[in-house]
Amino acid sequence: MNGRDDAHRREVLAWLNGARHEIISADVLMEHSTEYANAAFHARQAAEKYLKAFLIYHRISLPHTHDMSRLISLAAAVDEHMAETLDEAESLKEHPLPMRYPPRGAEVTQAAADRSIRIARLVRDSVLLRLDHARDDSAADDALLCSPDYVVTTSRNPDNAETGRAVEWAERLDQRFVARAGRSLAAICREEGVGAVLTVTSERVGLLIPEEDIEYFFHPSMARTRIRNLDAGGGDPMIAAMRLNTGDSVLDCTLGRATDATVASYVAGESGSVVGYEAHPLIAALTIHGLRTYEIKGAGVQEAMRRIDARHGDCELILPQIDGNAFDVVYFDPFFERMVEASQSMQPLRRIGVHRPLSPSTYEEARRVASRCVVVKRRRGHEIEGLPEAHEIIGGGGSSVEYAILSCLD
Ligand SMILES: C[S@@+](CC[C@H](N)C(=O)[O-])C[C@H]1O[C@@H](n2cnc3c(N)ncnc32)[C@H](O)[C@@H]1O
Repeated sequence: MNGRDDAHRREVLAWLNGARHEIISADVLMEHSTEYANAAFHARQAAEKYLKAFLIYHRISLPHTHDMSRLISLAAAVDEHMAETLDEAESLKEHPLPMRYPPRGAEVTQAAADRSIRIARLVRDSVLLRLDHARDDSAADDALLCSPDYVVTTSRNPDNAETGRAVEWAERLDQRFVARAGRSLAAICREEGVGAVLTVTSERVGLLIPEEDIEYFFHPSMARTRIRNLDAGGGDPMIAAMRLNTGDSVLDCTLGRATDATVASYVAGESGSVVGYEAHPLIAALTIHGLRTYEIKGAGVQEAMRRIDARHGDCELILPQIDGNAFDVVYFDPFFERMVEASQSMQPLRRIGVHRPLSPSTYEEARRVASRCVVVKRRRGHEIEGLPEAHEIIGGGGSSVEYAILSCLD
């Protein structure tokens, strides 16, 4: 990624982030006040900012206008699919609010404000979906919503040991170490020309993206809760889908933070085995380190983490090299196709992880490598392109995810 691409990506993300905050402001006002006019104003600002992010992404100069229909027609000219979904948003322009000076008072009803927020969400979904598609269509634009460039540094007042560890991390990841020199992380990004900073402190190692207020670091997420639930006799749909028992072997092809792998490792126990591959070098390094060092008391969670054999690698390249029937279960948890707005703040893993769709031949290889089954986690009711037909689906109910089970090749 060159500097120009990175600046472009950050500009798009800054607009997306600004838009997200407008929707949050509108929601807060609706929930805690009767400031309907202000809520509607923020909703309209959100829609405008999402459209502007879309136009900037396509490198179209922004017109000096707040006229929603003009922005919509520019967006529709780039991508005809935008036109259909955005038709409804056109009605925002009929809203009585001037853009810059939201009136206070009673002229905007709760229903009207609700409608504005609904329309803003519609614009948001449409823009984010098209940005995801555009990203997939164009290798040159792959910079958007993928991992930012970063440098490695320490806390503000490091001792020699901390500096030594930060230098080691920089070497391990083949990234530049920079002295903190009392600077804020935002200042480091500006001065070093990067989008993110990996900070190595006595507490943790984490990647911070100051402009988006996102931090990614290793933690076992829901692993302990899920394990406690299993201990209490409750079920776990992933474990049920795998039909996992003590002594089984699992290959996790999309390791991420290894939450799923930890639960699988707990059930497989000391006589079983879990091997996991993570394609993103930084996520892999943080997960490998976290699985070895993270301390968590009780219920055998830490022991389950320590038993996982975590590796850096792309499962598409690794699977063809593995013998047939080498594992009982092969597991995939790819990112869901559609980027949901909340994930930008709530799922830093999604923000930096690898989003490339897996090829159909990868799933076929997995069926060769698994002796029992291949399990693929997916958004409930959503097909994954290239995924062979599942012979069974587990999950659903109140959950937004389900597990597609593929039978193995003979
Ligand atoms: C949704 S996350 C998985 C989360 C994981 N199940 C957990 O419990 O933390 C998907 C992960 O797969 C990784 N990934 C995507 N494509 C991959 C590939 N071809 N090989 C290995 N890892 C991949 C992404 O970088 C990301 O970390």
